[in-house]
Amino acid sequence: MTGSVESPFKAVKVTERVYWVGAVDWDIRSFHGHATRRGSTYNAYLVVADKMALIDTVKAPFVGEMLARVASVVDPADIDYVVSNHAEMDHSGGLPEVVATVRPEKVLASTMGVDALAEHFSLGQGVTAVKEGESLSLGNATLQFVEARMVHWPDSMMSYLAEDRLLFSNDAFGMHLASSRRFADEIEPAVLEAEAANYYANILLPLSPLVGKLLEKVGNLGLAIDVIAPSHGPIWRKDPGHIIARYGEWAAGVAKRKAVVAYDTMWQGTAAMAGAIGDGLASAGVETKVMSLRASHRSDVAAELLEGGALLVGSPTLNNGLFPTVADMLTYLKGLKPRHLVGAAFGSYGWSGEAVAQMEEALRGMGLSVVEEGLRVKYVPDGEALSGCAALGRRVAEKIEF
Ligand code: FEO
Repeated sequence: MTGSVESPFKAVKVTERVYWVGAVDWDIRSFHGHATRRGSTYNAYLVVADKMALIDTVKAPFVGEMLARVASVVDPADIDYVVSNHAEMDHSGGLPEVVATVRPEKVLASTMGVDALAEHFSLGQGVTAVKEGESLSLGNATLQFVEARMVHWPDSMMSYLAEDRLLFSNDAFGMHLASSRRFADEIEPAVLEAEAANYYANILLPLSPLVGKLLEKVGNLGLAIDVIAPSHGPIWRKDPGHIIARYGEWAAGVAKRKAVVAYDTMWQGTAAMAGAIGDGLASAGVETKVMSLRASHRSDVAAELLEGGALLVGSPTLNNGLFPTVADMLTYLKGLKPRHLVGAAFGSYGWSGEAVAQMEEALRGMGLSVVEEGLRVKYVPDGEALSGCAALGRRVAEKIEF
């Protein structure tokens, strides 16, 4: 038998002119140090108009899959323009192969994207810079470019297809969620909420002031948006205003009466303290998460803190310092610049007990307000010590700002 074998990879129609031609990464479990337990997708989109445009590419190993999806609609060689909304390699890794295969008339990126792409790849052809508000005619459709600096990199931009009222939002409004479903309305709302929040907390939180400005700018531009097509996770085609509103809340830092008690332990002394502190917080009506760093990843703590009002950190003293998992978490959280948190530190120790003071210093270094003196217990906390822990939890509860 002769003849070519048909590829299993097909495009998915999104709107009249737009097809999803990305890739599903079922296996990725770490992204920037963030646990991605549900995998991810790298979304690229094909705009079928008089002139064909490809919006972003995919991570390099998936470019064959992406080109096969394109080929299910048009010959990839028919692509006229490739728009790179963001130079990070989960979206640009496939660009060199796409350029070599397609030989597009133009590759377009933001001004900073032109530099960033040059610092990543040798594409063999120039990249055309597009400015804020500039448009690209596709004949019977038009792409408008909207700079989105620092959402998520300095080069980031969005592209808007007015005819289909569709915003290619790149990293914004995305989530790490591998699925056979392409649209948010096909996925359980609780999963969407959890993964959208998880993504925001671990990727965009430190950029919240700029996210807020971007939302304001998009609002001021008066773009009619029926569909948001992000670069990760599902496409929002029903009520895109919902995820825009959630971003508004997260960017503003709206907090709940919620506390996270994160700790590690050597001989269960600090664990017992964490449990008692958690009980104290809960008894004062605070939604409380007690998280052992043996059972929870640093990025799970970040996700729980997104709408939290307090962080209580516990560590035993190991060789005059912090337990490694606690140091790791504090370093990670500092980079995320959490806001509106009050904090306190606690821990059991055997020799000199420096960890509590070191945690307090780290919390202050993160910009937290340390509202209670750190609590240290030598060796094994007894009933009185645990009562003191619960009382600490109740006192912190009174100081949560929300
Ligand atoms: Fe999904 Fe900043 O790349």
